[in-house]
Amino acid sequence: MSRFSRILRAPAVQALFLQCASFPLTLGAVYLAARAGLALDYPHAALAQGIFAAALTWWRGLAAWWRAIQFVFPLALLGARQVAIPPAVFLGLFLFLLLLYWSTFRTQVPYYPSGRKVWEAVAALLPQGRALDVIDIGSGLGGLVLDLQRRRPDARITGIELAPLPWLASRLRAQLAGSPARFVRGDYESLDFGHFDAVFAYLSPAAMSALWRKAAHEMRPGSMLLSYEFGIRERTPSRIVRPYKDGPALYVWDF
Ligand SMILES: C[S@@+](CC[C@H](N)C(=O)[O-])C[C@H]1O[C@@H](n2cnc3c(N)ncnc32)[C@H](O)[C@@H]1O
Repeated sequence: MSRFSRILRAPAVQALFLQCASFPLTLGAVYLAARAGLALDYPHAALAQGIFAAALTWWRGLAAWWRAIQFVFPLALLGARQVAIPPAVFLGLFLFLLLLYWSTFRTQVPYYPSGRKVWEAVAALLPQGRALDVIDIGSGLGGLVLDLQRRRPDARITGIELAPLPWLASRLRAQLAGSPARFVRGDYESLDFGHFDAVFAYLSPAAMSALWRKAAHEMRPGSMLLSYEFGIRERTPSRIVRPYKDGPALYVWDF
């Protein structure tokens, strides 16, 4: 599937199309109400728009939470207008969120960090006594990469991150700490996993099947794939570790 068709199929893009498709229905409802002598004000029109969008979303079979988002969205938009946020602040917030989340609408993998216990567990799972090439695919602010590099100065630790702001922050952190860890801005889908001894992922359920297909195709014997919190339906893990007593698992697949 091309990148363009993947963008078009992304749930957030579908939701936007469905809001747009609801607009003529709302106009029709406003018109018919006016003909019947009932002038709909903006809040009622926004309510109608939300109902149409939620109904179309249900009809298209998007995940249940999209119906709630679609229903609330027009009313929230109207509410935001009432607050009269200065346009420059609105633009600034939009740009900040854009640089932080970037392609999340397509990848369905937002930024949220793992934690120190997870970093410790990953470090403990890595083979000792030989040079290693390790990558965190979707390295966020770089916490795991910097921590691993501190623990394993003999290893080459890389982070790849799609979103510009977290990537820039991780580069700056590495520079300030004088760390040799590498941070690359880009899409892990364009990498060859065959170059790495260990690939760490903390992504989302939506990304796992495609990740498995890529890993199964590219990873070489003796290497390992690690995923925090999200398993792979198609393949039972070789090992499962619990970094936090009652928290999510860290899954390992040995190749
Ligand atoms: C849940 S965060 C994990 C952050 C970090 N690995 C950690 O453990 O704290 C996932 C990150 O993956 C990034 N991401 C999602 N899809 C990606 C892709 N295809 N290529 C590179 N980065 C991606 C997101 O921007 C986000 O920052």
